[in-house]
Amino acid sequence: LPNGLAVTPPMGFNDWNSFGCGVDEQLIEQTADFFVSSGLKDAGYEYVNIDDCWSLKQRNADGHLVPDPAKFPDGIKGTADYVHGKGLKLGIYSSAGDRTCAGYPASFGHETVDAQDFADWGVDYLKYDNCGARNTPETKDGYIDRYSRMRDALAATGRPIVYSLCEWGNFDPATWAGGVGNLWRTTGDISDNWASLRSIVRKNMGLYAAAGPGAWNDPDMLEVGNGGMTDTEYRTHFGLWSMMAAPLLIGTDLRKATPATLDILSNREVIALDQDSAAVQAKPVADADGHVVFAKKLANGDVAVALYNESDTAATISTTASAVGLPAADAYALRDVWRHSTTESAGTIAASVPAHGTAIYRVSTPDRWSSYPPAVTSQATAP
Ligand code: DGJ
Repeated sequence: LPNGLAVTPPMGFNDWNSFGCGVDEQLIEQTADFFVSSGLKDAGYEYVNIDDCWSLKQRNADGHLVPDPAKFPDGIKGTADYVHGKGLKLGIYSSAGDRTCAGYPASFGHETVDAQDFADWGVDYLKYDNCGARNTPETKDGYIDRYSRMRDALAATGRPIVYSLCEWGNFDPATWAGGVGNLWRTTGDISDNWASLRSIVRKNMGLYAAAGPGAWNDPDMLEVGNGGMTDTEYRTHFGLWSMMAAPLLIGTDLRKATPATLDILSNREVIALDQDSAAVQAKPVADADGHVVFAKKLANGDVAVALYNESDTAATISTTASAVGLPAADAYALRDVWRHSTTESAGTIAASVPAHGTAIYRVSTPDRWSSYPPAVTSQATAP
């Protein structure tokens, strides 16, 4: 959506994956505090987002949504003020239907009132779900209509509000959502397990042509740290989300996060790939036997290369500088963004990759070696 927002993929937090309906003001404010104290804010995380279940079960007599005072004693406005005071932004949630997925009142038919309330409260981001829809049988035009109504209502408030469509990938959003929202879900809900991660990557990876500034494919929020996957799988999750220029919305309880979780989430070399100003989603350039090679062109001319082992056995995955679109050169520097080490190669980009793992290199030609000078002249083998 060309509204000047989300020029790079949004980064932040959303409570749903680890708390479900258990959101409250304390969680949001403590997460904002943690963003600041942990350095996550400095690493780029900005939006602290409230998901479903924040309101009372009925609108008030004037037709407004009412924040549940037991959960949000200072209201959404007070919560937004607190979050803004930390130099961060606040997100909220509604649905393009009569009821949210958890049965709370939603915004279909109330778009103008709700968008204005969100703006008046100081909301900076709206996730707009797909529950409670009235237009059955569902059609693509019905989707475009329901999601465009809120786009227009948000625009009419004059407040910059990132607009996140949560239509679950229905009706090929990559073909229409770029004019409606800043990001759009490409799949159903993620779960904290390998089968879910694997299938979401498969669905999202072919949609690269639709991504660009202010318009992102959204393969759903992060599960990193929630315990259902190995750290190797979580690095694949975070690394491929970054390669695919996906929103990086942390979905774990940061107050209990382990050093290993924070290490993944705050890896600035990986985040830099997600946030690169060229705004390109990685393209799969090879895909055979569960070994996928992704290439992502970066603004400075480097190419990020991911060697993704979707299979259940360790394997050497290999590609070449020319196959990922780099110009001819005598040598290339391969910066391992997980190990923070650099090696030199004559053109082969290869690694021994564990099952479900992903090696990621930022590959430079010699004219750019000042940023990542090669330390040794052997071929890299990681992770
Ligand atoms: C479905 C969405 O896809 C989830 O991300 C979450 O927002 C839930 N609804 C909330 O009910």
